[in-house]
This record gives sequence, C-alpha cells and structure tokens, in this order.
Amino acid sequence: MTIRKIGIMTGGGDCPGLNAVIRGAVLKARSLGWEVLGIEDATSGLIDLDYRSPHGNVWLDEGKVDRIHSKGGTILGTSNRSDPFRFVVEKDGKKVETDVSDRVVENYNKLGLDALISIGGDGSMRIAEQLARKGMRIVGVPKTIDQDVAGTDYTFGFQTAVQTATEALDRLHDTAESHDRVMLLEVMGRDAGWIALNASIAGGAHVCLIPEIRYRVEPIAAAIKQRKANGKPYSIVVMAEGAKPLDGDQSLLGPRGLGEMPRLFGAAHKLATALERHVDLEIRVTVLGHLQRGGSPIQFDRVLGTRFGVAAVNCVEAGQFGYMVALRTPDIVAVPIAEAIGHKREVDPQGQLVRTGRDIGICFGD
Ligand code: F6P
Repeated sequence: MTIRKIGIMTGGGDCPGLNAVIRGAVLKARSLGWEVLGIEDATSGLIDLDYRSPHGNVWLDEGKVDRIHSKGGTILGTSNRSDPFRFVVEKDGKKVETDVSDRVVENYNKLGLDALISIGGDGSMRIAEQLARKGMRIVGVPKTIDQDVAGTDYTFGFQTAVQTATEALDRLHDTAESHDRVMLLEVMGRDAGWIALNASIAGGAHVCLIPEIRYRVEPIAAAIKQRKANGKPYSIVVMAEGAKPLDGDQSLLGPRGLGEMPRLFGAAHKLATALERHVDLEIRVTVLGHLQRGGSPIQFDRVLGTRFGVAAVNCVEAGQFGYMVALRTPDIVAVPIAEAIGHKREVDPQGQLVRTGRDIGICFGD
C-alpha cells in the first residue's frame, strides 16, 4: 500500500533517547515524502482528538526535530495512565475502568493515518499488540530504563540510567570512606535488577540486591562486618527498588490506584532500619529515583534510538505491522510484538553477569 501519513507516539515512563527515536523516524519518513503526526501523551491524543496538554497532536517536520537528539524526556509528552482498554473515567461520581479502544481506532482512521509507530515499554507493547489485532497498522519500538523488555539485546535509555547510577556511586564512595559509613543507594528496577547489577559492577559496590535474588539481612551484615575487619570500615550497598527480602515482598507505597501501576516505595529505608540492628556503623540512604529517567542520553542510547526510529519506518515501508524493532547485535531486526510481550526479561541469578559480580566479591544477600 502507499504510505502518506504516519503517527508516532511515546508511552509509559519517559527514558533518555526517546527524542533520538522520534528524530530518526521523522527524518527517515520525511525522506520518503511522508507526513508524520506526533500524538500527544501516548494514546491520550488518539482517545480524544481535542486533547491539549500542553500543545496537542503536532505535525513533525525536519525543523521540529532539529537537535532534539541530545534532549532528555520526550517532545511528545507521555503517560502511563492512557491504556485505552482500561481507561479510567468518572461515572456517577466514581472512577471506573472502561474500554475506549474503538474510539482510538476511529480517531486513527479519522486522522487519515496509514500506520502508527508506538514507542514504549512492555505495557505500551501490550497495548500496541491489542490495537494491531483491532486492525491498526502498528510498529513497536521498545524503550525502558529497566531493560526488562524481552526480544531485544538492549532497550535505549538503559545505558544512560546505568551511567547516572554509576556516577552516583563514585560520589557515594568518597563520602562513605570519609565518614566510615554504610551507604545504601536505591536505584530503579521494578521487576528486573539490570540497573542495580550493572551499576554495582561499574561502580564498585560491595552488596547488590535485585528482585531476582531474594535477600536476607544477615549475609549483608556479615559482608559489611568482614570489610570492617579487613580495615575497610565503609561499604556501598546498591538496591533495586523492587528487591525482595526472603520472608517478605516488594515495598509499596500503598494499594494500587485505578489505572496505575503499584508504586514501589521505601525498599532501602526498610533495609537500613533492619541493618542498623546488625552493624555498628552509621547508615545513610540515597534514593536516586527519577534522576535516572531524565537527562541527556549518552551516545549509545542516541545511536540505538536513532537506529530504532529509522528501522521502525523501514518496517512501515515493508508492511511489517504488529512487529517491534529489536537489537540483535550487531543488527536491528523486527520481531513479532506478541513474542516480546510473552515474558519479562529478567536477570538470570545463575548467569554470567551475576557470577562476575560474585567473582569480584559482591554479596547478593543470599
Ligand atoms: O518502568 C520504568 C520505571 O522507571 C520503574 O523502574 C519505576 O518503578 C517506574 O518507572 C516509576 O514510574 P513513575 O514515573 O510513574 O513513578
């Protein structure tokens, strides 16, 4: 079929490199003579064509994407509350989830779009797959700092987040050693410990706690005491926000709100309280939080993002709909979205990266 107009949107949490993908896709699409509509705040701009927050859907040309490759965030805005299959509306004064996906398909047709590029994490890929089954011509682009989307060697944004965490660790080492303290750094990683594990190795942490390996306080305390006995009375602990104690669960802010992911909160502070009973060193907690999501992408994420954006347009041109672009080093390939959303990409507790960590003396709390 002839392609004239495509849409592009970003969904879920933002991530360094989103703008590089948008720029790559727009420049490639424009070289083919296509028009590109930027959809505002994930599917929000398709659920409601009058949605304006703050600028609404916008036609993207070369000028609109000029120099955005180095900017963090997303020029299109994003949302993790716009799942059209479980959209939250107010009915009789009460919030309820409702299916507005037919409206999304209708508006996509009304806008005259021939295809849509959806950039997002596993949640957005699930939505893209469901919309593809309703007849929309969709190509997915995987993003997440957590690196937990299956089917691709890397998602863009992950490397920048690890770099941010590593730089934080370098700083924490200085102050930990000066004060003889235990420093706990909580990093993002809801279900997968990729950021924690890579930052621990890159940043010289002594303890690394990830969701895939349940921890106990005793081995952590023992590792810290052993270091003290060896003349190193300070320690660095890196903990993914989703790490779980052997006898408990993830630390949550409260019950999940309608249309929301459960909010993780307080993992490192809980561990600090428990650790204080076991070690006679001062403990301090740093929660890195959204500092890992913002900021200028490092070159790896700019290159990968650009390659993903261009490849997504190539998929549209080739009529490869219902597919997601993916890195299978050194190539960018297309994989069925359905395959990628089948399972989460988690750290293998027996894998080489964890073994490398153990070989350099990192304690995993088990
Ligand atoms: O999925 C990416 C992620 O950064 C998770 O690691 C984290 O739990 C979540 O997003 C935070 O989301 P929000 O920005 O909605 O608080």
